[in-house]
Formats: sequence, structure tokens, C-alpha cells
Amino acid sequence: MASQLLRTKSPDHLIREAEAPERKLKRSLSAFDLTCLGIGAIIGSGIFALTGTAAAGERVQSLSLLKTPVINLVQSWLTHAPLVFGRPGAGPAIVFSFIVAGIACGFAALCYAELAAMIPVSGSAYTYSYATLGEIVAWIIGWDLILEYAVGNMAVAVGWSGYFVQLCGSLFGIKFPLWAVTDYRTATDILAKGGSTMQDFSSTTLPVIAGHPIALNLPAFVIVAAVTTLLVYGIRESAKTNTWIVMTKVAVVIFVIAFGAFLVNPTNWHPFMPTGFAGMMGGAAIVFFAFIGFDAVSTTAEETRNPQRTMPIGIIASLIICTILYVLMSGVLTGIRKYTVYLGDSAAVATAFGGRPWAQALVSAGALAGMTSVLLGIFMAMARDGLLPQYFARIHHRFRTPYITTIWTGVAVGGVAMLTDIGSLADLTNIGTLFAFVLVCVGVVILRRTNAARPRPFRVPMVPLFPILGVLFCAALMLSLPVETWGRFFVWLAIGLLIYFSYGTRHSKLRRGIDVGETENIYPPIEP
Ligand code: ALA
Repeated sequence: MASQLLRTKSPDHLIREAEAPERKLKRSLSAFDLTCLGIGAIIGSGIFALTGTAAAGERVQSLSLLKTPVINLVQSWLTHAPLVFGRPGAGPAIVFSFIVAGIACGFAALCYAELAAMIPVSGSAYTYSYATLGEIVAWIIGWDLILEYAVGNMAVAVGWSGYFVQLCGSLFGIKFPLWAVTDYRTATDILAKGGSTMQDFSSTTLPVIAGHPIALNLPAFVIVAAVTTLLVYGIRESAKTNTWIVMTKVAVVIFVIAFGAFLVNPTNWHPFMPTGFAGMMGGAAIVFFAFIGFDAVSTTAEETRNPQRTMPIGIIASLIICTILYVLMSGVLTGIRKYTVYLGDSAAVATAFGGRPWAQALVSAGALAGMTSVLLGIFMAMARDGLLPQYFARIHHRFRTPYITTIWTGVAVGGVAMLTDIGSLADLTNIGTLFAFVLVCVGVVILRRTNAARPRPFRVPMVPLFPILGVLFCAALMLSLPVETWGRFFVWLAIGLLIYFSYGTRHSKLRRGIDVGETENIYPPIEP
């Protein structure tokens, strides 16, 4: 039993499987396309919608243990100090938060690049762990990737909705009823807060159906539906659109940095680290979301020209460019206004330019373009994650896209995005992704031993030091997430394992010996 759960697929097998004619996608992407795809998947809600909250912290509503970051829980247990409730804000040290999150991603990116170049097939961490850590771990990672991609996409859709409402208001003076543009939890928070936000809506009455007040984030659903339609028509068109959107988005970020630099008042940077190291790490655990997406590049190997050389360039270049932009932009935002202004503000960039409507509108439009490209980038990766039954992965005869998977994914993502708040979605995305990153780093070290002779067009320097540092940085970020998030993560894993043992084990091709037996007969072994 244990040996079956730990059975691995050889990298050669994975590569050949991807080259089966019915699964083949068009090979058309260059290094430039991949870097754009990376930036397209990276810059989005994280910088635009979560930076303010990360800098200002989270208002403490109640002394609920569920809101306590794990790190405080452990600290108080070790030192008998009183528990700290709520999430401390990083303040202007949010700049350091971005650097810490960026370094964690840097180590993980190097590991991704090695595995992506060595096993250039779709599936990202799922595929790599199949080759290194075995079927059961691959299943867990695959289940985590659903959190990263699907729940992450939901968070981005909700962020998109916020800026969309803001743009409609500042450009055309359009006001929507509260129930139609937000989820129930956020709606009740807004109603409880009262004050100026109430004037942003045409009505704040929530309709009641069967005794339940209803609030639905309809713009979030609509944008997901639009992106899903684009993707069904094909990656070529989407990649082109994506390149344009990425250019717009980077231009807007540079505009915020350059224009904002003139508005900075350095006294706003004092105190620089108002809540110390814990606040800075708490901020890093949130803004980690802003970096998610670079790994999506590695899932496009089947559509990439010369993936061995192109993929590491695409992954690392996009990550470096985004880290520099984030550090500068968050520094400017906390320099323009005191960080406390951004409390509970999911449109911090627009707030920073308050009093300059043209700049607010420009930035909101850029943020929308940015988030749209994030949706496109992540959807493109997710639609081919290889986790769904073969029937769903079938390629459309004319558009050459996995249309059934794409449509079902769109329905699920849009449906949940319509009902959930951005904070819960981002935290859950982060914990799942960080866990997958940890396993990818471990995978590099294992594969160096178990498959040492296989050519590696890209090698992580200083193995095992760099992968170990990747594991430590990611673990530290995981420990800085709220206990509530850990609870949800364990429930998610438990459901995944339940499905695996009741369905996956019976249906696994490996378990039935189909792949292993047939493959060894059909293809001569390449491995040394
Ligand atoms: N990194 C992506 C974003 O910030 C997920 O929207």
C-alpha cells in the first residue's frame, strides 16, 4: 500500500504523455511572451487591493482566538506573554514585507525553474511532485494548486469588482445598490461601519429571500464569465491581448511611482516599523499574494518554444521586475499618506491620489487592466492543470483549447467569488501556495539524489542550501497567517484526502498499472 502511494512517474514518461497527439497544444510562446505572461499573472490584486490593508493592519472586531496569527500563539505559549489579537499592520515597513515575500518566492522560483526546464510539461508543482515525491504527495499538491489558482482567481475577481465600482463612480457618477456589488460578509461590515462609505451606494437595503438577506458580488461573476469566454476562443488570442494589458499595467505602476514620488512627504515614513518584526512578517504573509503567478509560467511548457532555455528566463525575469516595482510602489503609497489612512481600504492606490480625479480614474483603469491580465494568466495555467479526468481535459477541435475544463472552472470560480470576501480568499490562497512551494523546494533536493544524471538545463545554485532557505522562508510566512486560515486549510486537505482514498486510489491509472506497464513496453527507457 505504502509503496503504491509513493509510486512516482518518470520525467520521461511525463514528457511523452504530454506529446500524445490528442493532448498537444500549439508551441508558440517566446521568452518575451513568457515574461509578459509572468508579469500578467503576478501584478494584480495583491499590489492594488491588499497593500493598504497589509500596511494598516486589521481592525480588531472582537478578541477572537480565531483571528490570532499562529506566530503570536506560539510566542505567547513559549514566553507566557499575553496574546496579541487582530493582525498588526506593517506600516511603512511594508516595503520590507515585499522584500521578504519576494525573497521567499525567489528561492521557490529557482526551484520551479529547475524542475520546469527538466520536466517541461504542463501541471507545475503537481507534475514535478509526481516525478519526485509520489502519487499521494502529488495529489495533495494538486489539491493545493486548486487553492492557489482557483481561490486566488476568486480573490482577484473580487478586487477587480472593487476598482470597477470605484471607476464607474469617479468617471460617470454611477452608484450601485450595495447588495449587487459585494458579498454578504463585506456588506454587513460596510453597514456596521456606516459613515461616508454609505453614500457610495444607491441603496443599502439587502433584499430578503426565504428569510435570508442576500448580497451578491455580480461584477466579480461577470468578469470571470468574460475571461472564461476569451479563453475558450484560444490561448494565442489571449496571449496577444495579455501582452497589451501587461504593458498598460506596467505603465500605470510606473506612473504611480513616478507621479507619486513628487507627492511623498517623508514624515509619513515615521515610525517606519510601528509594530516591529511581527507586523512586518504579518504584512509579508498577506502581500505574498502579490507574487503568486510566476509559477504559472512553468505550466505553459507545452506551448513554449525551446522551453529548456526560455522558461527559467521567463520565471526569474518576471519575478525580479515585479519585486522592484512593488517595493517602489508600496514605498510611495506609504509616503503619500500616513499608513493608518489605508485601514480596511481595498483601493489604496486610488485613495493615495485623492483630490486628483483624473489620476484616480487613470490608476483605477490600470488596476482593472492589471487584474484582468491576472485572471487571464492564472486561468490559462489552471485550465490545463491535468488534475481533472481525461474527458474534461479534451482539446477543442477548432480552438485547440481545453474548453470543457475552462467552462466548468469559470462557473466554479465566478460562483464562489460572488459570495466571498477578498481577505479570506487571499489568506487561503497564500497558505495553499506556500505549502506547494515548500514541497517543490524539497522536490529539487530529492530529484538531485534519485535522478542525478538527468540533464538539467537550469540548475539551482548551492543545493541544498537554497532549497532549504526556500522552505524556511515559506514556512515563516505560513506561520504568520491567521489561525482561522490554518483551520480552513486543514479542512481542505482532509476533504482532498477523503476524495483521494475513496475515488482517486481506485481510478488512478498508475494504481491499475496501465501507465507504468504500457509505457515501459511502448517507449524505450531513456534514463541512464
Ligand atoms: N499575484 C496576483 C495578484 O496580486 C495573484 O493579483
